[in-house]
Order: sequence, then C-alpha cells, then structure tokens
Amino acid sequence: MNIVVTGGAGFIGGNFCHYMTGKYPEDNIICIDKLTYAGNMETLAPIMDKPNFKFYKADITDRDTIYKIFEDENPDIVVNFAAESHVDRSITDPEIFLRTNIIGTSVMLDASRKYGIKRYHQVSTDEVYGDLPLDRPDLFFTETTPLHTSSPYSASKASADLLVQAYARTYNMPCTISRCSNNYGPYHFPEKLIPLIIANAENDKEIPVYGTGENVRDWLYVEDHCIAIDLIIRKGTPGEIYNIGGHNEKTNLEVVKTVIAELGKSEDLITFVTDRAGHDRRYAIDPTKIHNELGWLPTTTFDEGIKKTVKWYMDNREWWENIISGDYQNYYEKMYGNR
Ligand code: NAD
Ligand code: DAU
Repeated sequence: MNIVVTGGAGFIGGNFCHYMTGKYPEDNIICIDKLTYAGNMETLAPIMDKPNFKFYKADITDRDTIYKIFEDENPDIVVNFAAESHVDRSITDPEIFLRTNIIGTSVMLDASRKYGIKRYHQVSTDEVYGDLPLDRPDLFFTETTPLHTSSPYSASKASADLLVQAYARTYNMPCTISRCSNNYGPYHFPEKLIPLIIANAENDKEIPVYGTGENVRDWLYVEDHCIAIDLIIRKGTPGEIYNIGGHNEKTNLEVVKTVIAELGKSEDLITFVTDRAGHDRRYAIDPTKIHNELGWLPTTTFDEGIKKTVKWYMDNREWWENIISGDYQNYYEKMYGNR
C-alpha cells in the first residue's frame, strides 16, 4: 500500500512515519511537509534512507503540487496530520491556522477524491469539544459531544472535521476522523508544555505555569496515538469518528512537578504567569468506542512515558538545543517576555 502522511516532519506525524516504516516494510510511506518552524528534517533523519520512505517538501494548500504528487505516487491511504498546532500562536496570529488547517484539509480532500483514495484519515483533536468543568470529574468527551471550540486553533480543527464529514456524505468518500488528547514523547517541539519544562529546567530557567496551574489535560504517550491511527486506517469503519485517550488526567502543576522530579531539578523554578486567553479548563476523553470496536488500549503508563521522554531529551540534546538556539528565542521573548 502507498500511504501519504502529511505533516510527517512534525511531532506526531514524525513518530507515525517512524512507526509505520518500521512495522510495515512492504508499505510505502510518502511524507508531505511544508517544513514550517515546527517541521524538522532531523526528526526524519533516522528513516530518510529507508527504501519504503519518501519525502516531499510541499504545502498542503498548494493544489497543483499536491495533485502532482498524488498522480506520481498513486496513494491508497491519506493520513492528514499537517496543521498549525499551537494554541498560543493561534491567539496571536489566527490567519495561518485557517489557511493550513481548513483550506489545506480541503485540498487534501479534493486530491483524495480526484484520485480515488481508498481511505482518507483526518487527525483531529479533543479540543474541538471545548472544555469540561473542573468540578465534574464524571464528565468525559464522547464522539457525540457537540463541537464547542474555544481558540482559533480549535475552531480551525473543528471546521476541518466538518469539511471531512461533508465530503464523506456528499461524495460518499471513505473518511475517518480521530480526536486525540494531549500527546507527549520524543520529537515534541519545545514550545509545548512538557518539552518546554525539560528545556527550561535543564537551563535552570523559570518554568512558566499559566494561571493557577489547575487546568487539566489527558496525556497520552505518542506511540499509543500512532498505534490507534494505524488500527483506524486498517480496521476502522468509514464515516466514523474515534476518540483516543487513556484516562490519564493530570493538572498542569502535577505534570510540571513530575517532570522536574524526573530531571532532579528544583521546584523553585516554577513561576506562575498570566493565564492563556480563553484557557480551556479540562479535557478528558472517553475511549470506549475505539476500545470496544478496535481493541485499542494504551500500552505506556504516564510514569513510564515520562521516564522514556526525559531520557530521550537527555540522549538527544542536539535535536532540541538546535531548535531553542534559533528563531525560537524571538518567539519565547514575544510570548513570555512581559507575561
Ligand atoms: P506539529 O506542529 O509538531 O507538526 C505539524 C507539522 O505540519 C510540521 O511538520 C509542519 O511543518 C507541518 N505543516 C504545517 N503547515 C503545513 C502545510 N501548510 N503544508 C504541509 N505541512 C505543513 O504538530 P503535532 O503536535 O505533531 O500535531 C499533528 C496533528 O495532530 C495536528 O493536526 C494536530 O492538530 C493533531 N493533534 C495534536 C495533538 C498534540 O498533543 N500535539 C493532540 C491531538 C491532535
Ligand atoms: O488536547 C490536544 C491538544 O494538545 C492538541 O490539539 C494541540 O495541538 C496541542 O498543542 C495540545 O494543546 P494544549 O494547549 O493543551 O498544549 P500545550 O502544551 O500548549 O499546553 C498544555 C497545558 O499547559 C495548557 O493547559 C497550557 C499550559 N501551559 C502551556 C505552556 C506552553 C503552561 O502552563 N505553560 C506553558 O508555558
């Protein structure tokens, strides 16, 4: 099978390319990535020479180029990870989120339709459901929870999901959507909470915690997300949505303290800063459907996953030190300078 993976030079798409090229030597993984600030060829370096991996630098909003790649590569399956993914950036500059996440998705859907793809899979997020109150631990997001977005990022992802559903119904396309909770693990860009804690703590820099640190996220080790997507594209039912999450809710403060302890650093680095605008309080996925229908369960506990992640960042310092020594400094100053 020929599988197009967009956004494969990013965090989850990169992990997915590693996973798929290793598990299925008989399949061809064709990665398409624009290499924005979040895309990194170093993430793909370990698999670049594999005979079942191919890379195209291209923008998913560039229709002609995407059609040409489909014509040349004849894909069976498309997995669309490519997106602007950072909520804070969407608050300061929403437009690129609309272009990539909505228009880009429409181009990928059009290409998939034109070239008769057997399965189009959209990688979505639990953020499309909005948030849950902190004092109702009995509530979870299911696949039928109404869309209720908070940030320009989540609004753009929800828009993309609606487009996918519209194409599935109108053109009878074989589409699936997955909505996963917060991922962590190797190759996670240091603007996101867990790698930011690691990079700052290692440099004995303050660790900025938004608001009171009581917001809750439902953390999943990235490989478990990859396993879930692989199951969905092979065994999932066209037209269906699958929530992915492992019932692993933690407050941000708990996460910060766990990572600091793993690094052997001091909690004195924790610094409370101005809250994120519109900050979602709690995300919590109900994964019953993917468990019952596809037999998926997470394989890595939070304790194991954090240990593996911290070890990966210690063993691969060059990967993240190269990032934080470049343009990232301007980003950091803009986001945190006066916070
Ligand atoms: P990321 O920001 O690390 O990577 C995104 C990748 O997409 C980068 O390689 C970037 O270069 C590429 N890209 C951006 N715009 C592009 C364009 N116009 N054309 C081609 N490539 C482009 O993101 P991530 O955290 O790996 O997230 C991947 C997907 O998973 C996203 O769709 C995101 O919404 C979703 N998701 C993420 C999480 C999470 O916790 N990170 C959880 C659930 C869902
Ligand atoms: O839930 C899935 C989503 O998870 C994905 O759709 C997004 O692409 C991904 O970025 C992630 O979104 P979050 O906003 O939850 O992740 P982030 O790492 O930015 O923040 C996690 C929590 O930590 C959030 O409550 C904000 C807080 N935070 C974040 C940063 C960067 C801080 O307190 N301080 C920080 O410096």
